Amino acid sequence: MTDLVLTDINNQILTVRINRPERKNALTHAMYTTLGDAIEQAETDADIRCILFTGSEECFTAGNDLSDFASGSGLKGAFTETPVGRFLFLLANATKPVVVAVNGPAVGIGTTMLLHCDMVFAGTNSRFQMPFANLGLCPEGGSSLLLPSWIGRVRAAELLMLGEAFSADDAYRLGLINRVCDPADTETAALEACQKLASQPPAAIRATKTLLSGPTHKELTDTMLAEGELFVERLKSPEAAEAFGAFMQKRKPDFSNFK
Ligand code: COA
Repeated sequence: MTDLVLTDINNQILTVRINRPERKNALTHAMYTTLGDAIEQAETDADIRCILFTGSEECFTAGNDLSDFASGSGLKGAFTETPVGRFLFLLANATKPVVVAVNGPAVGIGTTMLLHCDMVFAGTNSRFQMPFANLGLCPEGGSSLLLPSWIGRVRAAELLMLGEAFSADDAYRLGLINRVCDPADTETAALEACQKLASQPPAAIRATKTLLSGPTHKELTDTMLAEGELFVERLKSPEAAEAFGAFMQKRKPDFSNFK
């Protein structure tokens, strides 16, 4: 079987590539575990100075695998112990700089994970989307705290309640990404940023990173835990069952009879 997440270390940069093109790079529990392992590896290996997350020129990730969501597997016990919870907390607490190259769909966690990264480069073909409410779910990854404080309450509500896709230009205007690139150049631009970060004094970069997220750290942890708990509960809701069923059957969901 092909590796669904590929890792490579070169010039002190750990590249983590999501590689499941036939499912639009949708993330399974096993893939979250590998993504989390990669962050842990970077934390313990002094030779790694920067992490780059990427997908392909066509697709970053379609978010959580909806079959995994529908089956409810892998989400038992404390949220921080689940593969997705572990990944999100490792990312939010990473001490080394994290850069992302996004092209094509960046759905669900494909958008919310960016809120914990230090620099984001996105291709003109990028389609960001947080369709949690559309799926009968609720925000995750600290997005219910970070988005309103960064882009304003009403803009956050629009993105989280309507769950519509938005472009790289929109994301740039909202201050969610650093640069819009030609899709063929996104990864190169991100890699250049990684190289610059890797050549900076590492302790100064770590100190800067701690200070950037320090003031909201406790609030963020509490929010991520509360979101995680509600999210797992909502996964079992009839609204979510209707949304997942509709996706599998390739039809529009019908929420007209829900109270
Ligand atoms: N989980 C499981 N399978 C997924 C998936 C996901 N999140 N996203 C896409 N796939 C599968 C599709 O079912 C399809 O499978 P098929 O070939 O057996 O029909 C295949 O990947 C290709 O996807 P498709 O929808 O045909 O590609 P597209 O280019 O038309 O659209 C997306 C791409 C990402 C916009 C669309 O696939 C999508 O909306 N996916 C769901 C995203 C989502 O809701 N994620 C959860 C967020 S919390």
